[in-house]
Amino acid sequence: MAVFLTGATGFLGSYLVAELLNSREGPLCLLVRARHPKEAEARLWRSLQLHCDYETFQRLFRTRMKVYLGDITQKGLGLSPEVREELLSGADSVIHCAASLNRRSYEICLNVNVKGTLEVVKLAQDMARRGSLRRFSNVSTVAVAGHRRDEAVREDKAIRWNAPDLDAYGATKKMAEHLARELLPEGAVLTFRPSAIIGDSRFAATTQFDMVRAFAWLAKAPALPLNPSWKIDIVPADFVARAIAELHRRERPKHDVYHLSAGTDSLDYREIVAVLGGGRRPFLPGLQRPFTKLCDWLSDRHPNWRLSRMATLLKFFMPHLVENTVYDNARLREELGEGPPGFGVYAKALMAYAEEHRFKFPYRPLPEPPVLEAAS
Ligand SMILES: NC(=O)c1ccc[n+]([C@@H]2O[C@H](COP(=O)([O-])OP(=O)(O)OC[C@H]3O[C@@H](n4cnc5c(N)ncnc54)[C@H](OP(=O)(O)O)[C@@H]3O)[C@@H](O)[C@H]2O)c1
Repeated sequence: MAVFLTGATGFLGSYLVAELLNSREGPLCLLVRARHPKEAEARLWRSLQLHCDYETFQRLFRTRMKVYLGDITQKGLGLSPEVREELLSGADSVIHCAASLNRRSYEICLNVNVKGTLEVVKLAQDMARRGSLRRFSNVSTVAVAGHRRDEAVREDKAIRWNAPDLDAYGATKKMAEHLARELLPEGAVLTFRPSAIIGDSRFAATTQFDMVRAFAWLAKAPALPLNPSWKIDIVPADFVARAIAELHRRERPKHDVYHLSAGTDSLDYREIVAVLGGGRRPFLPGLQRPFTKLCDWLSDRHPNWRLSRMATLLKFFMPHLVENTVYDNARLREELGEGPPGFGVYAKALMAYAEEHRFKFPYRPLPEPPVLEAAS
């Protein structure tokens, strides 16, 4: 039976498709937001070209990927009853990776992360009623832990219902976790909480540049409004996908929630700046408040100003950068026998790639089919 995956056209979703196709037999059922199959194919090629060449993509697309055109915010995922029935009879597990990471809009986060997750959970409930649901893996985030300071947060201490959330994204992902756990059979649900997913430990290329841009700025800024000993928890996408695929197929994982994180092995800012070749920079944590105010002010200026765009980015990342909080990964290490490769191993190559490509992946479009000569 197949795995049903949401979010395949996204950054982590592309890693999950590549990992699942590599590590298991059989087809993958993919929910893709597109108006017609050709558009879905083009959107999947766009996300998967980080992982394979066009010939491999074509072969896998034709033989292993079954595309469902839909949208998680639509009733029944926007699938017709016949198509939904076909999906239910072909898939026995779900990896729910689709989400909105839009930290500016509570409405969009609520619609996609809560209402959308409910629609995916309802599909899994239908599988459970038929006795076919083997597993529901929910890709969540460490952001569900809300505001933290100087902590190594454990999985069972992350959720607090009476404490302020970090932002709309964290709040709605927390609700989504709760929905899945409450509404699906015990033992079927696995929750994965990755920390900040940046780059790939095996190669320099990436398609996701937001955090990379923030670190490029860090490496070059004349002074940093951070404490050099504060840590930030970063994990590479290849490890996150490998861990999810591996635990998703385990018959009896030991736990139902896993932090996919670097934990106490996380680098501090002094180490990160050194790895990125930033030389000796003054660290001035006292400047944090004026710096945040400056970012707020600049981000409200002209949206097309380069400086405004960088300020907006830093405004949203700043709360994460100053928490000095990591996410304990003892469960993961125990279960997999290893933790993630450290950011220090690949950060320099990633940064060099990003700067060389001006923080843009050189996407190739889907080749046009050859025009057939009309028979004369
Ligand atoms: N990136 C990180 O650092 C990080 C860290 C921790 C956890 N996570 C979690 O990892 C997952 C993937 O994140 P990502 O960084 O890969 O995000 P991403 O690149 O923005 O991808 C999001 C995916 O969700 C899909 N999606 C959004 N709205 C949808 C809708 N209404 N219907 C169907 N699909 C929809 C998107 O489809 P379209 O292509 O059609 O927009 C895309 O495939 C999320 O659950 C996120 O919470 C990410």
